[in-house]
This record gives sequence, C-alpha cells and structure tokens, in this order.
Amino acid sequence: MAKDVIIALDFPSKAHVMSFLDRFTEEKPFVKIGMELFYAEGPAIVREIKERGHKIFLDLKLHDIPNTVKSAMAVLRDLDVDITNLHAGGTVAMMEAAIEGLTRADGTRPLLIAVTQLTSTSQEAMTQDLLIDQPIEQVVAHYAKNAAKAGLDGVVCSPLEAGTVHKNCGAEFLTVTPGVRFADGDKGDQSRVTTPAKARELGSDYIVVGRPITKADDPVAAYRRCINEFVKGE
Ligand code: C5P
Repeated sequence: MAKDVIIALDFPSKAHVMSFLDRFTEEKPFVKIGMELFYAEGPAIVREIKERGHKIFLDLKLHDIPNTVKSAMAVLRDLDVDITNLHAGGTVAMMEAAIEGLTRADGTRPLLIAVTQLTSTSQEAMTQDLLIDQPIEQVVAHYAKNAAKAGLDGVVCSPLEAGTVHKNCGAEFLTVTPGVRFADGDKGDQSRVTTPAKARELGSDYIVVGRPITKADDPVAAYRRCINEFVKGE
C-alpha cells in the first residue's frame, strides 16, 4: 500500500489557499479540501486545485437519506477527486447508495471512505447524547466493518485505531488518519495525537496533517519532514 501525506487545507478563502500552495515549487502535495473552503468557494476551488496537479481528498462527510446521498455523490463524481467521504452512521444502505452514485459509467470511481465516530466524540457523549451503550473502540470497529461490507475502501480514524481496523477489515482497507503532531510540536485542540513516525509504525496508510504544516514558519520543510518520517521511515 502506497503511503502518503495529505495536507488539510483549512483556509477561509481561495486567496489564502493559493498563496500557501504557491510555496510548493518542487512537489505537488496530496491535499484535503474540507467544508470551510468548499462552502466558501464552491466546486470551482476543487477544479482549480486539481488543475494545478494536486491529488484531492474532498472531506464533506455526507450523511442523509440514501437517495439524497446517492444524488449528491453523482454530482461529486464529476469533480474527479481522488478520495471523498461520508458518515458510517448513515447505515449500510446509505453507504451502498453512495457507491452507486459515485460510480462512473465506465465503472471507475473516487475512493470512498467513512468516518466512524468523530475523534471529538467522547465515550461519555456517545453514551449520553447518542444513547450508544458500547465501548467506543467496539463502535469504531463495528462501523468500519459496516463500511467494508457496503464496499467502501476505508475509514478515517485515529492512527491508534489503524491496527484494529486492518485486523478486522483487511490490510488493503485504507486507514486515513488525522491527529498527527511532531514530537516537539504543539498539540492544539487534538487530544490523542501521534507523530508521523509513530503513525507509520501503527500501519496508517495516509496521514492528514493540518496546522503542523499550514502554521509552520516553513511549511515546505514541515511537509518534507512528514514525508521523511511517515513515507520514507527516516
Ligand atoms: O490541524 P490538524 O492537523 O489538527 O488538522 C486535522 C484535519 O483533520 C482537520 O481538517 C480536521 O477537520 C480533520 N479531522 C480530524 N479528526 C477527525 C476527522 C477529521 O482532525 N476525526
């Protein structure tokens, strides 16, 4: 499985994103476009970044009735992104409908991955707010199995869950993992963090890295450090 580093482009506008991407003159990083940027700039921002030669993970986390998700995925399909996602909580039927919508006439489609439980959801919130009376690890493992059953390609999870997910769903089932920080860096609002080197050791396929790169004094150097630690194992 090819490992890669995905930079989370958590910026409020196109101007901010483009001046950030302009710094990368030698490499074309895999990038993640989330709700903030997509809602601010619309689908045009996806096309423009794609035209610059970047691979794109479109992180919109769809969750609705199966028919609506299928129709929405059919629209996203034509944006030609590399990875997109949804919430596994929408049920197996919703995930199957999503795959149908995302699949092109020639049978190809972007990779589709599922959010199991958000890493911001605590055991307490899950039990009290969502009335899910099971340990969170079991819920994550069960939702990942549902995603695999529906034919999805992987899940978004913590690097700490990557091993369990691979064990339950197979080595080829992708684990895309945020919550990555350098050993000497600031944790920010992430609570359970690992270094790029540790994420490699734990078997993550892709790490998603935002602020340790976007807020670094030298983002290109920070990106290269992630590549060295996570992809090359140096
Ligand atoms: O800046 P930082 O490295 O914390 O950014 C991580 C990125 O991954 C953000 O875009 C955040 O929304 C996303 N993410 C996350 N935890 C999840 C799912 C997505 O941090 N469970």
